[in-house]
Amino acid sequence: MTAGPSTRLIKADSEAVAAAARCLAAGGLVAFPTETVYGLGADAQDGIAVARLYDAKGRPAFNPLIAHVPDLKAARELAAFDATAGRLAAAFWPGPITLVLPKAPGCTVAELATAGLDSIAVRVPDHPVARDILAAFGRPVVAPSANRSGHVSPTTAQHVLADLRGRIDLIVDGGATPVGVESTIVACLGEPVLLRPGGVPRAAVEQVLGQALGDAPIETADEGEAPLAPGQLASHYAPRSRLRLDATSVSAGEALLAFGAQAPAGSEPVRMLNLSARSDLIEAAANLFSHLRALDAAGATAIAVMPVPHEGLGEAINDRLKRAAAPRP
Ligand code: TXA
Ligand code: MG
Repeated sequence: MTAGPSTRLIKADSEAVAAAARCLAAGGLVAFPTETVYGLGADAQDGIAVARLYDAKGRPAFNPLIAHVPDLKAARELAAFDATAGRLAAAFWPGPITLVLPKAPGCTVAELATAGLDSIAVRVPDHPVARDILAAFGRPVVAPSANRSGHVSPTTAQHVLADLRGRIDLIVDGGATPVGVESTIVACLGEPVLLRPGGVPRAAVEQVLGQALGDAPIETADEGEAPLAPGQLASHYAPRSRLRLDATSVSAGEALLAFGAQAPAGSEPVRMLNLSARSDLIEAAANLFSHLRALDAAGATAIAVMPVPHEGLGEAINDRLKRAAAPRP
């Protein structure tokens, strides 16, 4: 790893909020308190900042992130609310519930932040510091829990510092978080489904909806569980095209997902996109899902993917490529 940023820890006040907004606007990483746990924030629209965020967390895979917004109006710009979602937002926002919804047509959140999915997780936090930062920044902020991958979620600024010192730019210290567990996640992509229990009890959600919630627990990679088998999770983006990994040449009819400056041998690809011509893994991560989507639409027989090194974010990139290449039912 290269030497990271030097991490500043500052007490939450109006100065700190302004500094956080400036840092986010500059593509930086800012940890801040929400009512549930501390989040590690990045500008949701900045793919490079989002790639840096995954890198700082040391995530072995790209889990989709929650977009934090100040109110329902801002959430509606990112996601499509059905009647169920509208009722949950009215009942619990601001507060510790996250809704997974279809992406709105004009959704500006970086493809990497939603891990290439057509759905997006949105949340309106109920903590004065989080709300002030969102208001000052004026754009959506993606924020996973501010811990290293495999560690538990942080509820104090000291926890964040212990995990992420030297890997992020700023920690805004707003004391211990009141709820202490992550938000409840409910998917409204059809019948409502509980993806993760959390700060709002299941019974409270069911009471508002007047119906029982289905169950479809999501992978919680942060808690160090064994990763599920490729294709097992509906929450993984899968291209329709076949992927041919570690390709050093192109066959007739193939599209090419390149990496680095070297041109592979063989045929002229149907279409070519480069993850990073200068072999920068942060840039490659930021481009991964949008490039896969574009090549998937090229009508090729397969997508040949050049080798990507396994260090740093390369591990997560290779994880996603392997899942995308796995045979599907
Ligand atoms: O309380 C919380 O929700 C905290 C604070 C910081 O807001 N955030 C948090 O984020 O717990 P994170 O990244 O640690 O957990 C988000 C979970 C992940 O398990 C991810 O897989 C899931 O939300 N998720 C996000 N977008 C999704 C989507 N489109 N479909 C299914 N699951 C999604
Ligand atoms: Mg987490």
